[in-house]
Amino acid sequence: MVVPDTLFTGKNCIHFEEINSTNIYAAELIAKTSPAEGTCIITDFQTAGRGQIGRYWHSSAGKNLLISYIFYPHTLKVKDQFLLNVISGLAVYDVVSFYVQDVEVKWPNDIYVNNQKIAGILVQNTLRGDTIKSTIIGIGLNVNEKDFPSELPNPVSIANEKGYDISISDVFCRLCSRLEFYYLKLRNGKYDELRMAYNEKLYRKGILATFQDEKNHIFKATIEGVATDGKLILNTEDGIGKTYAFREIKFI
Ligand code: BTN
Repeated sequence: MVVPDTLFTGKNCIHFEEINSTNIYAAELIAKTSPAEGTCIITDFQTAGRGQIGRYWHSSAGKNLLISYIFYPHTLKVKDQFLLNVISGLAVYDVVSFYVQDVEVKWPNDIYVNNQKIAGILVQNTLRGDTIKSTIIGIGLNVNEKDFPSELPNPVSIANEKGYDISISDVFCRLCSRLEFYYLKLRNGKYDELRMAYNEKLYRKGILATFQDEKNHIFKATIEGVATDGKLILNTEDGIGKTYAFREIKFI
């Protein structure tokens, strides 16, 4: 793997041809040793790639970026932990935007291009009291994938959009730089700036759309933004505002 031009992010990079999941390996590493801040685990293929809410993450061998970063954001309070999703969403947004247009962040942390999912992010935090001890930021970015399983609703890759293959090493270096840029903002306490940047890039923001709540109630509402606790703020047609956690609401 090439060495990215960063201060610390991705400088210590552990590469596997095949592994169960980079997030699982990162968690084991943190439990057993003290990997340097910004250490990343990268692989060409995962046998048990993890997605959100226990889902599987698909990626053909050698086609995409499958990576997990380790950071120690000790001063970040648990109540502000959604900022880790914010910085990873913003970093992936910037990287994808370097290659293609019309990129958006679909709450809580999918990256979309023209209504299709190009990347997924799985953030797993370890807590110490009311602060974050360590975080694993797992990113699956579809770079050169062309054979998506038919059961995936709306996947897309950078190569699909551009019509030719892209260097995964280049994508890796750009991602390390952008993630470090936003992580340093987080460490410098620029919380409002980060939240505003994330809210600006939100998929379907301000557009009347259909949602389904936990009780299977289908309703129309507009996304106003994301609250500091990471909940989605929706305004219904009759002007009532309500916030929803990830499992409480679905886009239809
Ligand atoms: C999602 O469901 O959208 C999140 C997907 C996250 C996938 C990435 S691939 C690298 C890292 N290792 C994993 O097992 N999952 C994340």
